[in-house]
Amino acid sequence: MSAEIIDGKLISQQVKDELKEKTLKLKEEGIEITLAVILVGEDPGSKVYVRNKKKACEYIGYRSLSYELPEETTQEELLDLVRELNDREDVDGILVQMPLPAHIDEKAVINAISPFKDVDGFHPENVGALCIGEKGFVSCTPAGIIQLLKRSCDGKIDISGKECVIVGRSNIVGKPMSLLMLRENATVTVAHSKTKNLKEVCKRADILIAAIGKAGMITKDYVKEGAIVIDVGINRNADGKLCGDVAFDEVKEIAGAITPVPGGVGPMTIAMLMNNCYEAGVMRRNKQAI
Ligand code: GUN
Repeated sequence: MSAEIIDGKLISQQVKDELKEKTLKLKEEGIEITLAVILVGEDPGSKVYVRNKKKACEYIGYRSLSYELPEETTQEELLDLVRELNDREDVDGILVQMPLPAHIDEKAVINAISPFKDVDGFHPENVGALCIGEKGFVSCTPAGIIQLLKRSCDGKIDISGKECVIVGRSNIVGKPMSLLMLRENATVTVAHSKTKNLKEVCKRADILIAAIGKAGMITKDYVKEGAIVIDVGINRNADGKLCGDVAFDEVKEIAGAITPVPGGVGPMTIAMLMNNCYEAGVMRRNKQAI
């Protein structure tokens, strides 16, 4: 039996439409949500991401402020801008697109963003809050994966008690993903490049999340029959075609459900960024805590 294909485009559209409706209600109360997006340099991939984030703001009804700074911007200049935006009453969320040019310390920039405006969920205070189960902003890709699991397969995926294997331990995906799955009461294993017997470890998974960055690495030999497979990878194969970390065509024949690339996890990241902006706006105005 072939796997159910989890439609990230459709689910992200649902999330955005829910936010659009809630944003309209805020507007009726005279509240407008603003996201400030900072891009330093000319990285073509980053330019596309930033454009898509601004487009999503437009769709939902947020105001977006755009700062496109030259490659040679100094760290101090960037930090000054972040501090200015931290202090501005009319700014709810601040996003500094990564990667930054090599002469700028990304950690220093992340630490400078007010945790209350850190809609990427990268600030140590937000990461720490996730770790101890307190409220705070959660990194958008892992938060999006939780929504994909909850909203697909007619809501029948039950995470509680399941074996979840995450391949990859990055600060943006693997680590926060493990904490979110723990919060959902999964039994969590984080595998990585040094893991022994990776195939056997992955084959234990009821829910397998691949965030490795290697095109097609997860073949059917890594997957238990009926498992839910979430593919976070965005790679280009030899023909320049976009593909994930999972060998989709063969794995879909044995998985219970699977996300495609493109059209799976990717669209959810922006939808969850938009959700964090909404939460930031509401929280800052003291309507409710996130
Ligand atoms: N670069 C790649 N992904 C991201 C992201 O989620 N947020 C930011 N700020 N930069 C990125």
